[in-house]
Amino acid sequence: MAKLWGGRFSKETAKLVEEFTASIHFDKRLYKQDIAGSIAHVRMLAKQGIIKSEEAERIIQGLKEIKEEIEKGEFVFTAADEDIHMAIERRLHEKIGKVAAKLHTARSRNDQIVLDMRLYLKEEIRAIMQAIKELMQSLLAVAEEHIETILPGYTHLQRAQPVSLAHHLLAYVQMLKRDRERFADCYKRVDVMPLGSAALAGTTFPIDRHYVAKILGFSKVSENSMDTVSDRDFILEFLSVSAILAVHLSRMAEELILWSSQEFDFIEIDDAFCTGSSIMPQKKNPDVAELIRGKTGRVLGNLIALLIVLKGLPLSYNRDLQEDKEPLFDTIDTIKPSLTILAQLWQNIKIKGQNMLRATQKGYLLATDLADYLVTKGLPFRQAHRVVGEMVRYCQEKGKELEQLSLNEMQSFSPLMEEDAKKILDVKAAVARRNSFGGTSFEEVKRQIAKIKAELTEELLKQPE
Ligand code: ARG
Repeated sequence: MAKLWGGRFSKETAKLVEEFTASIHFDKRLYKQDIAGSIAHVRMLAKQGIIKSEEAERIIQGLKEIKEEIEKGEFVFTAADEDIHMAIERRLHEKIGKVAAKLHTARSRNDQIVLDMRLYLKEEIRAIMQAIKELMQSLLAVAEEHIETILPGYTHLQRAQPVSLAHHLLAYVQMLKRDRERFADCYKRVDVMPLGSAALAGTTFPIDRHYVAKILGFSKVSENSMDTVSDRDFILEFLSVSAILAVHLSRMAEELILWSSQEFDFIEIDDAFCTGSSIMPQKKNPDVAELIRGKTGRVLGNLIALLIVLKGLPLSYNRDLQEDKEPLFDTIDTIKPSLTILAQLWQNIKIKGQNMLRATQKGYLLATDLADYLVTKGLPFRQAHRVVGEMVRYCQEKGKELEQLSLNEMQSFSPLMEEDAKKILDVKAAVARRNSFGGTSFEEVKRQIAKIKAELTEELLKQPE
């Protein structure tokens, strides 16, 4: 097939080269953005008198029809089209004839592709931020139900101190809140209109870039044409922010896996979110969580892949930049369903509060509380720490828990121990006592929930006009 750029060529492109260089099989997902960008461009060309209004009308009509053809599945994509820009332009020629050739005035595919990517990413960032919000809401709903559900808090994966389950879940809500803010911040640098940079140096035509920005809802216009066609920082930034999010989801997934194991037995993931084993009839596996953890690998890899594509590129456009798309699309296709599925998983989770509580009763989780008690009686903390450490060793030898010690036994470690020391050794009271700002007390947890709920109603992004 004759190429739209074929004038200076005397031979046809080799079939293998055509296939090797084509991006149509993945960039066709940008068709909506490509058409919206072309329509805005043509309107601007007509307003500036660069093409005639009737010509613009015919082109716009043709583009609208092509959009419908694609959406109805009637459009035939071929590798000979190379990319989405060429595919649409080729079809436009078929439909409206010679006037189609005026569409590409004062424009290059180099600025066109950046426009498509930016328009596409703006939409995706909005969708991802909404999905993050929904996961936060799911976690908040479980947290609100379980303010007084107590489980061991861990350090080094060893039982450390008792905490409210809500407090534990709110830790993830905080991570997600930061993720949402990072996406909103990334959005600002995506929201820049690149068209009109042309191949690399701008154009000789009297274009109005700000008008195009206005039609397409961009808040800024890019400043330097060479930077514009070669810059992929906005994608790098998106991939970095996504990588951090994926790491958070992976950590959450890891806890879901641990907690649903027989060793912990803190939760039961709903049947709808688990799968079985083909050989062991008794098995119910947390595959969804495992895959979310596993897919983090590709999300991190996608960031590294693009960093490496960019690191040796001279200005300005180089075809290497076409390699930005698959990592980007893959990251989006991974994190979006991960967020949605986790939100649903938490909505359907069974919390085994009794098992959580039971786990706090073994492992001397209140040792710090007992040391703090001795401090209130005047003992310096380091000494108190030592005394309680000796009590723990004694308990281990006798096979007892701290709360099983008699007052006499306690006093044999320190004369400062009095009757009220026994009252310290209550898990619920221990949680309630940690009332420092950001601590796990029930009161503090309620404050945290109210605060984050109020923050969630704030719009982080301007709604497009
Ligand atoms: N498909 C290319 C990309 O994704 C855009 C087209 C620019 N191609 C060119 N030969 N100038 O970056």
